[in-house]
Amino acid sequence: MKNRYTFGDNDAAADRLVLLARAYEPSSAAFLESVRPARPSNARAVDLGSGPGYTTALLHGTLGARETWGLDASERLVAAARAAFDAPLTFTVHDVTESPYPVAEVDVFYARYLFTHLASPASVLEAAAAAAAPGAVFVIEDNCALESPDPLFTDYYARVRTMHAHYGQNMFIGERLPELAGETSWTLERFARTRIELDARVMARLHAINVGTWRRDPFAASAFDAAEIDAMASALEAVAAGDRSAPHVTCVMGQMVLRL
Ligand SMILES: C[S@@+](CC[C@H](N)C(=O)[O-])C[C@H]1O[C@@H](n2cnc3c(N)ncnc32)[C@H](O)[C@@H]1O
Repeated sequence: MKNRYTFGDNDAAADRLVLLARAYEPSSAAFLESVRPARPSNARAVDLGSGPGYTTALLHGTLGARETWGLDASERLVAAARAAFDAPLTFTVHDVTESPYPVAEVDVFYARYLFTHLASPASVLEAAAAAAAPGAVFVIEDNCALESPDPLFTDYYARVRTMHAHYGQNMFIGERLPELAGETSWTLERFARTRIELDARVMARLHAINVGTWRRDPFAASAFDAAEIDAMASALEAVAAGDRSAPHVTCVMGQMVLRL
């Protein structure tokens, strides 16, 4: 099945990724700090599925690599990243499931919230291996679960999960990461499930923006009732604005380190 990115790359989608970057920065920074190479000033790092560049900047800031690249399939998001960040960050349009990459001898690969959007996630591991320096590491973060006692959020997650599954994707691919690595030339160094408590208002804002994008997806438009989606979007907006209270959301993040 062909990979299809359902969360869009218009201005709203790009703004959502900026908010997402802010929400997850502390946990991702702590994880990245733990894989800093012995001599980062010689290292080349690459962020796969870099979006508007915030994860690339985070990767660069935490590792202090000599050069850091961001690769993304979206021309619009790559243009936004180039507008926001200067050298030594380099952004290039590339489908990261396809080899060869436009950069070689890579010491550190990083991918956050990429694998969940791919019908063929193992192809990224193979393509990255072909561009890797000896002893390279691959650092991956993707959701194992999103937990909330609030039916508004659980309904939202169930619908996104259904849409992802329709396109051969796994919203909670975090749980499958070690198994995926086992099919490749990478060796599993560690895998952990890290619980991250997230403000419901922030999550509701992210989800409300996202509903505006994915509700136009052909599958979502035919499978989901438009009035129910309107009601969901309004309720999410109300939580985001502080007019409806909701308990925090717990993200169970799968954090994996692979070595070649
Ligand atoms: C949810 S965003 C994550 C962005 C960033 N890594 C973060 O965590 O904030 C997923 C990104 O992966 C990109 N993407 C999806 N499929 C891709 C592919 N096959 N090759 C390259 N980029 C891809 C999308 O364009 C989008 O920018």
